[in-house]
Amino acid sequence: MITAIAKNYRIIAKLLALNVPSPSSLFTIRHASSRDVGHVSDILTESFYRNSNRKVNFLLRCFTDWVYPLLRYGIMLDLSSRFGEKTPCYACLVATHPANKSQAIASLEICMRYVPVKSHREFWLGREMQQYPYIFNLAVHPQWRRRGVAKQLLIAAEKTVKQWGFSHLYMHVLEDNQPARQLYDLIGYRFYSQEGSVNYWLLGSPRRFLLQKKLTDLTPPSSSGKAKSDG
Ligand SMILES: CC(C)(COP(=O)(O)OP(=O)(O)OC[C@H]1O[C@@H](n2cnc3c(N)ncnc32)[C@H](O)[C@@H]1OP(=O)(O)O)[C@@H](O)C(=O)NCCC(=O)NCCS
Repeated sequence: MITAIAKNYRIIAKLLALNVPSPSSLFTIRHASSRDVGHVSDILTESFYRNSNRKVNFLLRCFTDWVYPLLRYGIMLDLSSRFGEKTPCYACLVATHPANKSQAIASLEICMRYVPVKSHREFWLGREMQQYPYIFNLAVHPQWRRRGVAKQLLIAAEKTVKQWGFSHLYMHVLEDNQPARQLYDLIGYRFYSQEGSVNYWLLGSPRRFLLQKKLTDLTPPSSSGKAKSDG
């Protein structure tokens, strides 16, 4: 009896889900402008420097609160200079909610970065490096997490990179950042190489994993002439 009710409930829930737009479709993804610098700085400072872990030392938390405005200011300067440089193959994408379309709630940046090309040569001969699109500073404001915003931003980043004419996308993740690792695995990013093994063995610091995603269904490069093809 209980099994039958549970089965019917699941079927009804599935049918309802078909007619109701998913919560993630509420968010809009767009290219950031200089007006977003303040909000994006808040998101980055909050996500990367404010430690919500209750176990963290009280003094450390006071110190972080004290330096918070300085950190935010530094991030603002960095962002403003990246926005102003008009570098080819650089993009900052932001997510907004319909309730306030001018306020970014999440962001990520894409730039070109040298990545070691896997080769069969001995490592002491040096590894060949090539430039590839690279995602960094992905962060979602703590109030908006677990609603599919990061997933939507990453999908939009793939579209941008495909328009530039590239077929691979890279990013780093710390080995102890479980939420991010789970997200990247879900989206199809796979382990490529690792860094920081010396500090890991000597100091116990987490290693950095370089992840790679091979993009499929490439669209032709944009006519702006900015794009280059990789590989
Ligand atoms: C990591 C981060 C970007 C995820 O953003 P988000 O919008 O909450 O992620 P999404 O809602 O798109 O999550 C998609 C999937 O990723 C996984 N995931 C995301 N957050 C997770 C968490 N805290 N724990 C476990 N899995 C998680 C889940 O599989 C999730 O799907 P589900 O919600 O249906 O289970 C966000 O937690 C963040 O800003 N963290 C701080 C900054 C950071 O670490 N950035 C990454 C640097 S490499």
